[in-house]
Amino acid sequence: MPTVLVTGANRGIGLEYARRYAADGWHVIATYRDPATAEELRGLGVETHRLDVGDFAAIAKLGTRLGDRPIDVLINNAGLYGGEQTFGSVDTEDWMRTLRVNVMGPLKMAEALCGNLAAGRGKTIATMSSKMGSMADNGSGGVYIYRSSKAALNAVVKSLSIDLKPMGIIAFALHPGWVKTRMGGPSSILAPAQSVGALRRLIDNATPAMSGRFYNYDGQEIPW
Ligand SMILES: NC(=O)c1ccc[n+]([C@@H]2O[C@H](COP(=O)([O-])OP(=O)(O)OC[C@H]3O[C@@H](n4cnc5c(N)ncnc54)[C@H](OP(=O)(O)O)[C@@H]3O)[C@@H](O)[C@H]2O)c1
Repeated sequence: MPTVLVTGANRGIGLEYARRYAADGWHVIATYRDPATAEELRGLGVETHRLDVGDFAAIAKLGTRLGDRPIDVLINNAGLYGGEQTFGSVDTEDWMRTLRVNVMGPLKMAEALCGNLAAGRGKTIATMSSKMGSMADNGSGGVYIYRSSKAALNAVVKSLSIDLKPMGIIAFALHPGWVKTRMGGPSSILAPAQSVGALRRLIDNATPAMSGRFYNYDGQEIPW
């Protein structure tokens, strides 16, 4: 039975990943921050661990707790959008917090779990980025916190693809589309099931040629 670990799995896209993988018979290790918001996740009967990805000691502890168990796929999903971020009124404390969660958290997850991933068959790190982090796609400006965090995250993914290649690990960045979640908001276009269904086709069929690249949920490559 293959194993997937998903961060931020108590709601939104992360919960949909947990639901789908569990339904397909995978062993799902799902993390959440607050037990009060994890009832739906717990109802899936998957293995759960409490984890704030901005708490690097907690990430290391989770790595220790998982020991040498093989993990096929790590989905770095947990993320923040950030608050006020228009030109002239960017909340810099919020910016620091968002960078910690969106950029440093995924790197620390990869550091803690690369041994588990190397021992798995899938050897895949799929990181939820956003088109908003693409320089080429930025035609409207603003959104300083979120854009810069996802651009920096993309740089992390690229370096992971190079550094972890000797371990046989594939690392790529994904854009899920505009998805109806708390972050996506009510006007979003895609249901989480549509997005995750498409993303899973990429993740479950990952090849070394995909490593170090950035993909839209439909498989189209996104320029950095
Ligand atoms: N929805 C979209 O249209 C869209 C578009 C592009 C990219 N994305 C990316 O896709 C990913 C999932 O987004 P979503 O739409 O599902 O967002 P969401 O509905 O806001 O859910 C975010 C998830 O991340 C968790 N999280 C936030 N900070 C965390 C932390 N410090 N430690 C651990 N977990 C934390 C949240 O947990 P709590 O419940 O505890 O807050 C929640 O489970 C994100 O990386 C996002 O940037 C989404």
